[in-house]
Amino acid sequence: MAKITYKDIKKSKEINAYLERGNATLGVLGYTDHSAAHTAKVADTAARILERLGYDAHTVELARIAGYMHDIGNCVNRNDHAHSGALLASRILTGMGMEFDDVALIMNAIGMHDEHTGVAVDPISAALILADKTDVRRNRVRNTNPASFDKHDRVNYAVISASLNIQKEKKVIKLELQLDEKICSMMDYFEIFLQRMLMCRRAASVLGMTFKLSANGNKIC
Ligand SMILES: [Fe+2]
Ligand SMILES: [Fe+2]
Repeated sequence: MAKITYKDIKKSKEINAYLERGNATLGVLGYTDHSAAHTAKVADTAARILERLGYDAHTVELARIAGYMHDIGNCVNRNDHAHSGALLASRILTGMGMEFDDVALIMNAIGMHDEHTGVAVDPISAALILADKTDVRRNRVRNTNPASFDKHDRVNYAVISASLNIQKEKKVIKLELQLDEKICSMMDYFEIFLQRMLMCRRAASVLGMTFKLSANGNKIC
């Protein structure tokens, strides 16, 4: 069977069409950006996490592919998008000739990435969750009118900078945020992100690491 690479995935017209449609749909529903810019960033971060922790190149490449494809299910429906996305990915990847074992790992990671139903179960799903849930940034907000920002807009807009540091020796994965507290209070932040941060904690532990979060230099967890 053919070795499918991240390069093949990134230039797939089918995958990019689904990402674009999903992102357009979420735009109408008032969600933040879920375009290929988001998924390519998630792909890079997921790969960086596993690379830094010493995983083999093949596992890293599968995490990168899962990262790029993880939100394709939004073109079906936001609800259960992780599950529909996993099934779409299965059809696309088997059609491209990917090994079934690899397809299964990617399907599983995509299907487990949403905080309502998912949980990290292996290195690829863990890396995908950490990369996805920590992609908070101002330019994901599409609403151009601050007066009508919802909580998600406010929380993302308030993020001046976010960096995910993998401290292998200390066994720590740390998200360091700089928040503009004039835009969003810590309480708002927690209301939106508590569930996601708990998901990150579990994901880090699957990788043998501890998840830490700091905001404006204050240790949160
Ligand atoms: Fe998602
Ligand atoms: Fe996502």
